[in-house]
Amino acid sequence: MADLYATIKELDPGVKERLADVLEKRAADSRQREMLHSYLSEIDFPPAARVLEIGCGTGGVTRTLANWPGVCEAVGLDPSAVFLSKARELGSAIPNLSFEQGDGRSLPFNDKSFDVVIVHTTLCHVPDPAGLAAEAYRVLRPKGCLAIFDGDYATATIARGDSDPLEACIHAFRDGFVHDKWLVRRLPVLIQSCGFDVQPMRSHGYVEAGRGSYLLTWIDRGADLLVQTGAIGEEKAEALKVEARRRSDNNHWFGHIAFASLLATKP
Ligand SMILES: C[S@@+](CC[C@H](N)C(=O)[O-])C[C@H]1O[C@@H](n2cnc3c(N)ncnc32)[C@H](O)[C@@H]1O
Repeated sequence: MADLYATIKELDPGVKERLADVLEKRAADSRQREMLHSYLSEIDFPPAARVLEIGCGTGGVTRTLANWPGVCEAVGLDPSAVFLSKARELGSAIPNLSFEQGDGRSLPFNDKSFDVVIVHTTLCHVPDPAGLAAEAYRVLRPKGCLAIFDGDYATATIARGDSDPLEACIHAFRDGFVHDKWLVRRLPVLIQSCGFDVQPMRSHGYVEAGRGSYLLTWIDRGADLLVQTGAIGEEKAEALKVEARRRSDNNHWFGHIAFASLLATKP
């Protein structure tokens, strides 16, 4: 099954609205914000920095960038008009924030026009990630910084034991929402081959123990995909969603995924 984010422009508006809600839920999650702040704090933003987020979705990360110390202007780019309309609405009170429609593999910006480029949970959705990294290189000024943050999706699990039936939803979610679940493991070599000086990659663990949160949306979306592919019927999908809520309501939920951040400099 193709990654839904990779084919975002072809999805029906209702699906995009639901994805927009999920992106905002994730942006508001305290652990997700902690990981974002952790790697942004390692970036040396020059004074009056001009910053680009490629694949900004509804703009949660771009809004943080616009308010980050030293940032003079934050621009978010995304192929989806539905996401951008939401991003503009949510960011309307932030004066140094703007959004552009476009594809990260052919950016509508001049050479050497940004100090920092951020790619946050987007690169794993893009066929030809090297093409996107090459464009980031082109629009960065010399000494500019590229920061990539992504899920190491092959590590994702909600299983509490062998043959946990809910794990099938996690696998279905990965198949339907992630173009390349192994991307993080090739990232340093890929970014270096585009001409960047690469710093050591950092790992960030995301754990939900007790109550479920963002990973419950994976169960719902994974179960729906299993119905769409004909693997299970509606009743079974509903039962899987109920089981996930039961665990969460009883404080027995467990979910984990490792994320990774990579900073690289244009020489
Ligand atoms: C999981 S979302 C992340 C959104 C945002 N960075 C965040 O963390 O809230 C992935 C985003 O990548 C965008 N995307 C997909 N293909 C893209 C491409 N070729 N160039 C730029 N963005 C793309 C999608 O439209 C979607 O908004």
